[in-house]
Amino acid sequence: MPADQSFDVYRLPEEHEAIREAVREVCAAKVAPHAAEADETGEFPKASYDALRAADFHAPHIPVEYGGAGADALATAIVIEEVARACASSSLIPAVNKLGTMPLILAGSEELKRKYLTPVAAGDAMFSYCLSEPEAGSDAASMTTRAVRDGDHWVLNGVKRWITNAGVSEFYTVFAVTDPTARSKGISAFVVEKADAGVSFGAPEKKLGIKGSPTREVYLDNVRIPADRMIGAEGTGFATAMRTLDHTRVTIAAQAVGIAQGALDYAKGYIQERKQFGKPVADFQGIQFMVADMGMKLEAARQLTYTAAGKSERGDADLTYFGAAAKCFASDAAMEITTDAVQLLGGYGYTRDYPVERMMRDAKITQIYEGTNQVQRIVMARQLLKG
Ligand code: CAA
Repeated sequence: MPADQSFDVYRLPEEHEAIREAVREVCAAKVAPHAAEADETGEFPKASYDALRAADFHAPHIPVEYGGAGADALATAIVIEEVARACASSSLIPAVNKLGTMPLILAGSEELKRKYLTPVAAGDAMFSYCLSEPEAGSDAASMTTRAVRDGDHWVLNGVKRWITNAGVSEFYTVFAVTDPTARSKGISAFVVEKADAGVSFGAPEKKLGIKGSPTREVYLDNVRIPADRMIGAEGTGFATAMRTLDHTRVTIAAQAVGIAQGALDYAKGYIQERKQFGKPVADFQGIQFMVADMGMKLEAARQLTYTAAGKSERGDADLTYFGAAAKCFASDAAMEITTDAVQLLGGYGYTRDYPVERMMRDAKITQIYEGTNQVQRIVMARQLLKG
């Protein structure tokens, strides 16, 4: 390898670093100032949405041909990471827009993509993903939401639960059973609109964290939609759902990295200011060892996340393994790092006067959604042991 290239081995391209700087600037000015308020009130951070939309960071992954910014998977992960560093609830805007639209991007017809990706790229609509149900969480294939063909239409009935940004989003990817005898092969994916007759929403869930991101049930009561709203072929919905998660678990890893970075940055500043026994607490070796561990775990999580993002962009065969590994490792690291950040602030860390307790509560969800970390370990083990 030529000497001048050897310096570029395994480092981010300049354009990705530039994206990080640009997002960080927008977030410092217009997202971070609303983070505590979104957590306190539980209201969707509209000001953050407007700021992200104005800078084209609200759904950066949408391809240029549909009016999007065309960010690759690594750039999208960096956007989500940086938004999460300021406000985890707001990071679900770009993250769930990617989750909701990924089934279309992977398997949708050209007409569907043009119709539904364009308004999301323009910031006129958001897109949510409806897989889970009250009795079908980790065991997603046991869903009971039903879609029955009726002439040129499908009629959907059922309840979807834990739907991020439900009610705020205009569009929903809904997975439903089209052949009850075929388990995962009898599931199909559809685009449902908030405006479709028969669509309604439950009360917002009262959550531990990510309170600014509404989580609600979605009720489908005889929702009649045109047959061309099916995403991909009949019976391919479950595979599309899983392929989607392979890509988007990387974005949850990025969210976890961002939350953890926010907590570490805050704690670093605090321990250098806070004096006990006549000196900054950062001068004590016990505190230094904690900070060192936090930084080390965070960087390991970031490297695995970016590696998985590269695999997502290229569509590598081992993305299933790496998406699960990155999500699992980064979210476990974020939980440890944010918990330690609370510890470093002592009693102050345990109050809402400081942001680290919010970050700890927000980090917890990254170990649970888009598949619990127990499910990630099932996915990883199956990949490791197959063949
Ligand atoms: N890519 C393509 N196809 C896949 C796939 C993948 N990654 N994973 C599975 N499939 C296919 C399989 O090949 C299989 O087809 P064949 O029979 O032809 O081989 C079919 O799907 C069924 O697969 P499994 O037998 O592995 O299915 P399973 O019932 O054992 O479930 C599971 C596997 C990994 C546990 C899966 O159910 C799962 O991931 N559960 C977790 C669900 C989840 O992540 N939910 C998150 C909800 S979204 C969310 O949280 C969003 C939010 O709020 C932000």
